[in-house]
Amino acid sequence: MGKSSVNRIGIITGGGDCPGLNAVIRAVAKSAMGQNNCTIIGIEDGFEGLVEGRMHQITDKEVSGILHIGGTILGSSNKGDPFHYPIDNFNGKVEIADESQRAVRNYKRWSLDALVAIGGDGTMHISNKMAELGLNIIGVPKTIDNDLFATDYTFGYDSALFVATQAIDRLHTTASSHHRVMVIEVMGRYAGWIALGAGIAGGADVILIPEIPFDWKIISDKVKERNLSGKKCSIICVAEGAKPAGGDVMVKEMDERRTDARRLGGIGEKVAQQVEHDSGLETRVTVLGHLQRGGSPTPFDRNLSTKFGYKASQLAMQGKFGEMVALQGTEVVSVPIQEAIAKQRLVPPDCQEILSARAVGTCFGDM
Ligand code: F6P
Repeated sequence: MGKSSVNRIGIITGGGDCPGLNAVIRAVAKSAMGQNNCTIIGIEDGFEGLVEGRMHQITDKEVSGILHIGGTILGSSNKGDPFHYPIDNFNGKVEIADESQRAVRNYKRWSLDALVAIGGDGTMHISNKMAELGLNIIGVPKTIDNDLFATDYTFGYDSALFVATQAIDRLHTTASSHHRVMVIEVMGRYAGWIALGAGIAGGADVILIPEIPFDWKIISDKVKERNLSGKKCSIICVAEGAKPAGGDVMVKEMDERRTDARRLGGIGEKVAQQVEHDSGLETRVTVLGHLQRGGSPTPFDRNLSTKFGYKASQLAMQGKFGEMVALQGTEVVSVPIQEAIAKQRLVPPDCQEILSARAVGTCFGDM
């Protein structure tokens, strides 16, 4: 490959954080610095930093020793969409404005040749629109939710599964001591990947995911039947986006400043109350929350992040903009960002995971 004309690469981490972000930053920076002696500019706090011009040059030292550390050294935000930018008027009111041209000006002011945007679907939607304004963007798919189309896995998902599975293992021991029903609510937004993956790995008796609307009676019948057969405890793993047939997701809070205004939550508590009421069995609920996003990335996520970061730096050098790196099978390839955001990657109700879980007796609340 001849010498690339790309010399200054920006890196941004947008949306909710997750383990593996630092590993990607490190891989992009080290490979671009090594390959083309590039200057790397770190944008602070996601797109907020691009709109407000908060960025700095990243040194080799800054990206050393961060592979195993969770979170992001750059900071992140899910409230900085330049096209829907919240401006605080300090009178208790927040106005929403289009500040995308400010972001473009800062990109030019810092003489960026390319911008590596690491984020989930919100970040990829913003990136696609910024690309239309002339920015040279390369996407890297991140999210614990694993809901980005066009990649088999996003980094962060495996780490979240590890935490959620461990939590279920711990709930098992206390559930069996007290003969209780334990409900655990996990994240995932509108996709059930975390609940499904951790529920199967943790041996949950009932798994509730958004893609399979549930029936209250079927859940309580399942735990009652287990109890009658001498299995004195049950585990119910609920995705935060799970909903009863004919019902809607439970929303904990609305915040128009967020990329997705709806913050989900509360279904775990509701399931616990209803199951206790309908089955008469003592029930407790645990909401795992942000523990799923914290801590060190798993080895799988460290490796995937490193491959993603390297591939992103290669795409930048080759001038292949508007592309997102993606895992397809065991290969890291690239796909147009537009393809990645065309639809959400939801759990297919007839996928092998669900069929195998049903075969070992797991109930999905629908039959
Ligand atoms: O998209 C990642 C995620 O952790 C979702 O699973 C969850 O619904 C959301 O972010 C929580 O957002 P916040 O950190 O703003 O509460």
